Amino acid sequence: MNSNPFALPIKIGTLEIPGRVILAPLAGITDIPFRRICQEMGAALTYIEMISAVALNYENRRTLEMARRHASEKILGAQLEGNDPVAIARTVKTFDSMGFDTIDINMGCPVRKVVNAGGGSSLLRYPDLISRILDAARAATTRPLSVKYRLGFTRETVSVEDTTRRAQAAGLQMVTIHGRTRSEDYSKPVDLAGIKQGILTAHNLSEQEQQQQQQQQQEQIQLLRHQQQPLTAFGNGNIFSLSDAQKMMQETGCDGVMVSRGALGNPWIFREITKGAPEQVTLEEWLKVVLRHLNYQEETYGDTQTAAVLMRKHLLWYAKGFPGTKTLRCEICKHNSLQEMRNLFRDFCKNHPADLVRIHATAHDDHYISQ
Ligand SMILES: Cc1cc2nc3c(=O)[nH]c(=O)nc-3n(C[C@H](O)[C@H](O)[C@H](O)COP(=O)(O)O)c2cc1C
Repeated sequence: MNSNPFALPIKIGTLEIPGRVILAPLAGITDIPFRRICQEMGAALTYIEMISAVALNYENRRTLEMARRHASEKILGAQLEGNDPVAIARTVKTFDSMGFDTIDINMGCPVRKVVNAGGGSSLLRYPDLISRILDAARAATTRPLSVKYRLGFTRETVSVEDTTRRAQAAGLQMVTIHGRTRSEDYSKPVDLAGIKQGILTAHNLSEQEQQQQQQQQQEQIQLLRHQQQPLTAFGNGNIFSLSDAQKMMQETGCDGVMVSRGALGNPWIFREITKGAPEQVTLEEWLKVVLRHLNYQEETYGDTQTAAVLMRKHLLWYAKGFPGTKTLRCEICKHNSLQEMRNLFRDFCKNHPADLVRIHATAHDDHYISQ
């Protein structure tokens, strides 16, 4: 048995997922090709892109496209945002009938458009509405249900324990806590102590009980948690490496980690955390995965200009960590076909030894991410 805690299966209600490293729903990013790559690298659960409860009810074409599932995707979650309990319940029912294995409600999105419309993290200001939404969603499905939220709307109004209790009271199976408030941008460090408060609430544990559990054998811990733990709780925020994941688990007592920006251009992060050993990504391996991603892109969208434009951001994220990638990044934006992009990466690799190891590169400082 792999003693690395991230490789242990975990239950989200009736759903068992094979590990404790999952990929976040990421608007504009977690489409079929990217999800397939992350699943193959070990992401135990992935989600489609966040869908607005209003948009799905209008059966908008782009929205239905986003809800597609590839035949290879054994486990897949959906996420929705909105602020009307009736519309949310309707969307949950639709997701249920589409066969999603688990359904998540977003209460963390900081984007102005979503917040101004009263959804995402805006809900953290209205605790009673949180309960009405969660109760309505619960009544609409028997599938595992979860909510993803921030510590609070502002530092002055941290509400993580209250939100967690509401999730518990509504009978949800899982929570994911992002260790920032809505008013804190990505430059702020993640508040692990804040996440821990939410995790203790989710697990019905005092700090002392949590410490005792952490000292026990891992197998025993799992046994105990399966018996006692009403809410599976994931920690989220700034997971860019195995050591970040370990720190999140050790300091918060979370059951697993949700990776977001750390997976951009670095899907190997799932293998690294699940295996419990840092990944040495060689140029050869890197090219293999980039080409596979390009193939999945073509399978999903065809070799169209749209496919190439959607692929650009991924290639720009991949194009980090080897000498000479600055020129490669400039070239990526000049191409409008997936075949040209394949050639570009193949040509780049001809100039370097195949066993050259990639320097750990993350996309977190990338200007393409502007939430
Ligand atoms: C481009 C982008 C899109 C995102 N889209 C979503 C989304 O659709 N749903 C969601 O719950 N969170 C979304 N998030 C938030 C992330 O899931 C995560 O909570 C946040 O980035 C903090 O984690 P990190 O520091 O590991 O990136 C998005 C983040 C980024 C950067």
